[in-house]
Amino acid sequence: MIIAIDGTSAAGKGTLARRLQEFFDYAYLDTGALYRAVGKRVLDRGQDPSDESAAKQAAYELAPEMMLQLQNDPSIRTEVCGSAASKVSAIPAVRQALFDFQRNFALHPVKEDGTPAKGAILDGRDIGTVVCPDAQVKLFLSASAEVRAKRRLKELQEKGICVIYEDVLNDVKKRDERDSSRATAPLKPAEDALILDTSDLTVDDVFARAIEFINQKANI
Ligand code: C5P
Repeated sequence: MIIAIDGTSAAGKGTLARRLQEFFDYAYLDTGALYRAVGKRVLDRGQDPSDESAAKQAAYELAPEMMLQLQNDPSIRTEVCGSAASKVSAIPAVRQALFDFQRNFALHPVKEDGTPAKGAILDGRDIGTVVCPDAQVKLFLSASAEVRAKRRLKELQEKGICVIYEDVLNDVKKRDERDSSRATAPLKPAEDALILDTSDLTVDDVFARAIEFINQKANI
């Protein structure tokens, strides 16, 4: 079983993915962490994330054996890394470099402790359309830019980071625009995805709708 979760940033993909991971005991891959790690590597070297050859080199340097652990690295969770990730992710050679690992994970899911799992959950922007067009379950989460900016602001404030709402909102809108308008693997729902607007839904509501959809798909 492959569950693909795509959508805009701060729409609740990660939260849903973790709930489903616990519920089904599947393996989970946060693919955004891969792009964030590439963005961070480029920035750490003082290079420009939009520089194709710098970004490509950084992507090919990520060893497959370390990719699964990247999602636990707090240093990639900054707004700066998120923005760098959205720049490197528009470069086709970077997407190509990260494709095999994601595809292989989906077909041979392994949990973080190294044990095999009966299913894979991947979240990102192009899982249902490019990485796993064959996924049995595709979910696409969105929410208004204002709601997502408020969620992100709260997250940052809880970490003790001081930011202004307008700046966060601008960043959310810029990232949406970049992710949706790029030529390679743009952010868009797969035709057979369940689209959920999470603006007025609780975490429990989103989980319940996802479970209902998964049950329908499992019975087909
Ligand atoms: O999901 P997260 O915010 O961590 O992703 C960071 C950035 O990485 C996104 O804004 C997007 O540009 C890029 N990304 C992508 N394809 C994916 C996952 C993330 O292009 N599958």
